[in-house]
Amino acid sequence: MAEIVLETQGLTMRFGGVVAANNVDFKLRARELRCLIGPNGAGKSTFFKCVTGLQTPTEGQVFMRGEETTTWMPHQIASLGVGIKTQTPNVMDSLTVFENIWLAARRFHDVAEANRKTDEAIERLALGGIARSDLGQLAHGERQRVELGLVAVGDPWLVLLDEPAAGMSAEDVERMTTIIHELNKTAAIVIVEHDMQFIRSIATQVTVFHQGSVLMEDHVDKVMSDPMVRNVYLGKKA
Ligand SMILES: Nc1ncnc2c1ncn2[C@@H]1O[C@H](COP(=O)(O)OP(=O)(O)OP(=O)(O)O)[C@@H](O)[C@H]1O
Ligand SMILES: [Mg+2]
Repeated sequence: MAEIVLETQGLTMRFGGVVAANNVDFKLRARELRCLIGPNGAGKSTFFKCVTGLQTPTEGQVFMRGEETTTWMPHQIASLGVGIKTQTPNVMDSLTVFENIWLAARRFHDVAEANRKTDEAIERLALGGIARSDLGQLAHGERQRVELGLVAVGDPWLVLLDEPAAGMSAEDVERMTTIIHELNKTAAIVIVEHDMQFIRSIATQVTVFHQGSVLMEDHVDKVMSDPMVRNVYLGKKA
């Protein structure tokens, strides 16, 4: 079996009387692709923030490749080789796509290697046509792809994405799917996502959160047809 790259043990986060994440045991192996889904307030973002170092859990532990990272800051976690895309944009509007990605690459590599990595990311993420455009001029879906470029240049073995398809057109979602599969050739990926079309198109293993706990973990097809999941999450719509 592949190495466990991310694990939480009894991860719990309380805000006053609210238990936002409740004793979550989670395991992800190398090269796995996993979506976290669940209704509003289920605890997905809280779990994501605890794992990425944006919040420190009240109880429980986080391990990355066996190393405990529970109290680490996001930049410390990133320095392990973990690519994190939060919902807050990390890009600079007045710089071009190339410059934005290059600056991210330079954090990890010398100048020559940063040039090479930037060219490679632009090629892999099909950003060639807009490489010289300022970020500020781009459409939402293009900006999201650029943000994945920032993640890709660090050669991550683990990628953590918060709603990468939010607010995207069907065409953008399709492109995003291709990019995620491309990243997944070399990295395990966790994606918090609402967009059902996107989750189905990735056709992946899914962890369903409900009231802070893990309700179910299975392939997306099984999850979508499970009466319990349909009841708490999908209602009659799916
Ligand atoms: N900083 C905070 N202070 C107080 N309560 C919080 C805080 N963050 C989250 N919560 C509460 O914790 C619960 C879980 O919230 P969380 O944002 O993790 O859910 P979610 O699954 O990401 O929901 P959504 O799909 O709406 O993004 C909710 O009841 C929320 O109100
Ligand atoms: Mg959320």
